[in-house]
Amino acid sequence: MKPVSQPCLRNQDPILQVIKDYLVDPCHILEIGCGTGQHAVYMAENLPHLTWHATDRFDAIYGANLWIEASQRLPLATELDISMPNWRSSLLFSVDHVYSANVIHFVSMEVMQNMFIELKTLLNIGAMVFLYGPYNQNGFTSEGNARLDVWLKADIDKRAGIKEIDDIKTLAKNAGLTLIANHNMPANNHLLVLKKKAKRF
Ligand SMILES: C[S@@+](CC[C@H](N)C(=O)[O-])C[C@H]1O[C@@H](n2cnc3c(N)ncnc32)[C@H](O)[C@@H]1O
Repeated sequence: MKPVSQPCLRNQDPILQVIKDYLVDPCHILEIGCGTGQHAVYMAENLPHLTWHATDRFDAIYGANLWIEASQRLPLATELDISMPNWRSSLLFSVDHVYSANVIHFVSMEVMQNMFIELKTLLNIGAMVFLYGPYNQNGFTSEGNARLDVWLKADIDKRAGIKEIDDIKTLAKNAGLTLIANHNMPANNHLLVLKKKAKRF
């Protein structure tokens, strides 16, 4: 049976309404941490000019591919662990832009740093990175986010937790990426849009 995430059902259309204005031309999207695969299928079906490459760690791939096989609108999900060194070398498709929802707070600072290290080499000028989820702005922005952070550290990984937008901006800058938009989304979430711009000399 296909895995179902209720939050995905709630947030997939608000996310689509934002990203569709950025993704107007045919392109290849790498999704990091696709989970159930619901976002991948929803975006691929509603933005058919995109080739959406869903990825996640091994344990998620079977469930995600139940959705993807039923849809037949996108390639099957493949394994990708952003904690691994040199993970970009394992990708068997080209990447124009990157999308990742609700992953950054599930991983440690070190893993997030490793993600940006690899993105620095992977992405070309003009590439965008869409990061959806809860973020801190000089601390928690809601009591719900503070409770989520406690749960993440206790139940997922003691090094996981909600990240400060300023820390994301710093790591992104080292990867040549600039925050070009910060969209407020329902339930105290944000959709950050980072872009790789040409260097000014
Ligand atoms: C809360 S789920 C989000 C899933 C989906 N993107 C969504 O919004 O519903 C977090 C996801 O991050 C993935 N994840 C955690 N650590 C990861 C890593 N090191 N590399 C790739 N994915 C990772 C998990 O396997 C899981 O699918």
